[in-house]
Amino acid sequence: MTTLKAVRGTRDLLPAETGLWNRIEATARQVFARYNFGEIRTPVFEDTTLFARGVGEETDIVSKEMYTWEDRARAQSEKTQSLTLRPENTAGVVRAYIEHKLGETGQLQKLYYIGPQFRRERPQRGRYRQFSQIGAEVIGPVSAGSESPLRDAEVLEMLATLLDELGISGWVLKLNSVGSATDRPKYIETLRAALLPVVGQMCPDCQRRAETNPLRVLDCKVAEDQPFIDALPKIADSLDQASRDHFAQVCAALDAAGVPYERDHRLVRGLDYYTRTTFEFTHGGLGAQNALLGGGRYDGLSELIGGPKAPGIGFAMGEDRLVLTLQALESTKITLLDTKIDAYIAPLGEAQNPAALQLARELRRQGLSIELGDGSFRLKKSFEAADKVARAIILLGEDEAQSGILTVKQFSSGMQTKVARADLAAHLTASRI
Ligand code: HAM
Repeated sequence: MTTLKAVRGTRDLLPAETGLWNRIEATARQVFARYNFGEIRTPVFEDTTLFARGVGEETDIVSKEMYTWEDRARAQSEKTQSLTLRPENTAGVVRAYIEHKLGETGQLQKLYYIGPQFRRERPQRGRYRQFSQIGAEVIGPVSAGSESPLRDAEVLEMLATLLDELGISGWVLKLNSVGSATDRPKYIETLRAALLPVVGQMCPDCQRRAETNPLRVLDCKVAEDQPFIDALPKIADSLDQASRDHFAQVCAALDAAGVPYERDHRLVRGLDYYTRTTFEFTHGGLGAQNALLGGGRYDGLSELIGGPKAPGIGFAMGEDRLVLTLQALESTKITLLDTKIDAYIAPLGEAQNPAALQLARELRRQGLSIELGDGSFRLKKSFEAADKVARAIILLGEDEAQSGILTVKQFSSGMQTKVARADLAAHLTASRI
């Protein structure tokens, strides 16, 4: 029989790795709470129309990367429906904002999410078909200040803080403005016209994109194409005055807060909903897939999917890429070394197994992490097993069970001490530091 494996582009995360994932998520949750964000959990699949309208039919994501299927009706009352595993979470959050009439509160909604997304991309390092995003959205009525450039700057400042607190050094913030909903189509036409005389000399991908989606030409990495791309008109020159002022105010607030950034005229992003501010944080340690996170403003998205006017700004971080970056940094290796549990209980003989379970229950209920051995093991085997996972071993023989005085050996110091059962938890906790 052939052995079954995880599907291409998906993977298992084993306990040796999930510790780091949990630490990243815990840090993100703490930082989000300090900025008054609350968690939202939306379904993993949605009506396909949501992504077609929200993300855009012409985008790579919608046109070729989605996992979509026809969901058969199970009862007369149900209709066959086209469903899609979410390729991103912003459209789902905005759908929920509309569905639950969150705009009627009159308040800005600050929502974050952590969860899997699905895209049928060509898998490579840092690019998977199931990947996890940690993202957040700030959305609300105009009267709540949702269009203010201060919101953009605050989100970017939060990201700089979060990356710093995660211990990711060396990130670069790339910033651009793609203008209003009318600036963007104007620029696309300017770009199409400018590409016409030169595109014949560019790579086949660019030739195709010049037809279907000229903005994507700006993403081309082919070395020979770069002089042509550098000579193309910049989106900054197509922006109306209001978009220019908005962008200038975002930059001024970032300057005041001391958050460094680079202007990147080619950063137009791969999703159609963006208006005005767009950004990415990149990291040199990631190779070709160097975007740690991406985001931007989407002032017209709510209307695109049938909702009221509700400007917003948000981002999503690739959690897989945060993990890769941290794993490559020396500081993470050092802090991950100390993942040992508090103690290992070695029952001396099978008759002590029930007493060992009782002791383990007592200690675990006091918040200690305990591994339970087995009375059938020889002492040498118990010591070896304990040394691998725990900082200390507790020996529980008949004498110890009767006297209530236990023998505890700390592996780091090699010290063996007798400890009264009542003092055991305090003794083990003290040895954590
Ligand atoms: P995105 O740029 O498509 O934006 O994805 C955001 C981040 O998700 C990327 O920078 C990358 O770190 C990670 N990512 C994307 N695709 C993959 C993949 N196949 N494997 C691993 N990581 C990946 C969005 O998704 C927008 N919803 C962000 C946003 C939120 N904009 C406004 N609000």
